[in-house]
Order: sequence, then C-alpha cells, then structure tokens
Amino acid sequence: MITHTIQGVEVPALGFGTFKLTGEDATRAVATALDVGYRHIDTAEMYGNEAEVGAGLASGSVPREDIFLTTKVWPNNLRPDDLGRALAQSLDKLRTDYLDLYLVHWPNPEIPLADTLAAMQEAQAAGKIRRFGVSNFPVALMREAVEKIGAPVFCNQVEYHPFLNQTPVLDYARAHDILITSYCPLARGSVQDNAVLKRIGERHGKTASQVTLRWHIQQDGVAAIPKSGTPANIRSNFDIFDFALSTDEMAEIGNLRGGGRLVDPATAPAWDPAPAIA
Ligand SMILES: NC(=O)c1ccc[n+]([C@@H]2O[C@H](COP(=O)([O-])OP(=O)(O)OC[C@H]3O[C@@H](n4cnc5c(N)ncnc54)[C@H](OP(=O)(O)O)[C@@H]3O)[C@@H](O)[C@H]2O)c1
Repeated sequence: MITHTIQGVEVPALGFGTFKLTGEDATRAVATALDVGYRHIDTAEMYGNEAEVGAGLASGSVPREDIFLTTKVWPNNLRPDDLGRALAQSLDKLRTDYLDLYLVHWPNPEIPLADTLAAMQEAQAAGKIRRFGVSNFPVALMREAVEKIGAPVFCNQVEYHPFLNQTPVLDYARAHDILITSYCPLARGSVQDNAVLKRIGERHGKTASQVTLRWHIQQDGVAAIPKSGTPANIRSNFDIFDFALSTDEMAEIGNLRGGGRLVDPATAPAWDPAPAIA
C-alpha cells in the first residue's frame, strides 16, 4: 500500500468508495474490500448505507484502528446542533465511536461556514472525529476555511480523474498540506475505453482502470476511492502496487484533461475555471 502523510497522519492512498451500494450488496462489498486489503473506506450520510457499511466493517477480523474511515454530513445538517446529531447517528450506524475523517459533503451558503467548522472542532476535541475536512470546495471556499476561519482542514474530496483539470485545488491543497481525495476516480468507469490509458496499460500488463488508479496515487497528496460492487473489479482495482508509471506517462495521462465534470448539480458552488492546457 502507498500512503500519504498529511499533517503527520498516514492515509492509505487507495480507498474504497461506496456510493450506490445499498443493502446486503454494500455489506458484502465492504467485507470483500477489507479481505482484498483496502484499509480506507468512504461513505456518507446521504448514501443511506452507513449501517450496511458498518456491518461490513464488523464482519471481518480487521481491527478498527487499522481502518481509515470517512463519512460526510449532508448540507442540510451543517448547523452545529444538527451536525452533532448527524454525527451521533453516523457513528451509531457505522458501529464505531470515532471517525478518522468527517467531511462537509457540499458547501451550504445558507449556513455560516465558521459555525460548521467550529462544530467540527468541538467534535474533534471530544474525540468523536480524528480529523475533519470538506468536499466539493473550490479554492475560494478552501481559502475561507483555512485562511479566514483558520480551521485545520485535513482534506478536500473532489471529483478528479484524467479527464478533469483540478490544478487550482491541487495546488492550494499541496501548499497547505491538505489531502485531495479523488471521487469518480475512474470517471464512473469510462476510463476503461480510453485509447491512451489502454496503450499505457498494455506496456505494464495492466488495464486502463489500473493505470488510472496508479496515476492518482502516484501524485503528491492524492488519494483515490474507486467504487465497485463487482468482486473482480474490487480485486483488480487493488492490484496496482507492483508497477509504477514513468514521469512521461504521468504527464501524458495528465494531458487527457478537458472532458468536463460528471457531478455538477444546480446547487454546486462556482467551480474554479480550468487553467489553459500548456
Ligand atoms: N463527495 C462527493 O460529492 C462524491 C460524489 C461522488 C462520489 N463520491 C465517492 O467517490 C466514490 C467513487 O466515485 P463513483 O462511485 O461515483 O465513481 P467511480 O469510482 O469513478 O466509478 C464507479 C463505476 O465504475 C465501475 N468500475 C469500478 N471498477 C471498475 C473496473 N476495474 N473496470 C470497469 N469498471 C469499473 C463500477 O462498476 P462496478 O460496481 O460494476 O464495478 C461503477 O459503475 C463513490 O463511491 C463515493 O464514495 C463522492
């Protein structure tokens, strides 16, 4: 496993996403992922699967302290009292007394960010969460959290894959020792059809998906959380630690960007404009 050390904390660079996994499928997928070797699991209040993910975590023999567990609070629960209640429910469903990371799932302009982050700090001081962070925050909002409010933000989880230029948030995160966690790291499966990724994969005896995941975790301070409910994909997505991409291959994959966002709801914040491709 490759890990990244952020603010002195070691984080497994490859994690397991659980969006759209529900019921027994979610429990089974998490159990399979732990069996295969994943030690970083991502869920959210909104996914409606925390209880099933919790059952998966409890089903095997992997000690809780060996797992980096993330969940997220939905934007309607960002007022301090609501956040406290949502956190208690998430802990209960996940069958744990602490989270490694608790994220603001999306910004909510109706609720002062300072209040939400103060509630996060309170939960941290109470030992209920080890670290906290944000998701879907462009640079302006990261700056507000870090520089104006002065909160120790650990992570920004954002859409990131070879077809999307995320240079502004990556640069800001690196300058402030903040983890970037790539969601939709496989562009929801579409990387498997890309000719450049396939060609690079052939050189290494790997699939386009494996090349893509390796590209994510070979970047400074970037973790990736591919989702799969298919056991063969859960396994093959983890089989990326016996090869490395060259500097030229990393750059070639980085230059694929330009395909746009897959996740862009009407309530999304104003995204950073993508810099011109060199
Ligand atoms: N913070 C946010 O707002 C946010 C938003 C979206 C997602 N997320 C998180 O990020 C995680 C990942 O994102 P995502 O689930 O949207 O997209 P993704 O991981 O890029 O793609 C998942 C899709 O790719 C397929 N797939 C997985 N491995 C594959 C492989 N080796 N070959 C071919 N197809 C493969 C999966 O199908 P199978 O299941 O059949 O393998 C599934 O359809 C989520 O599960 C969630 O935890 C966060």
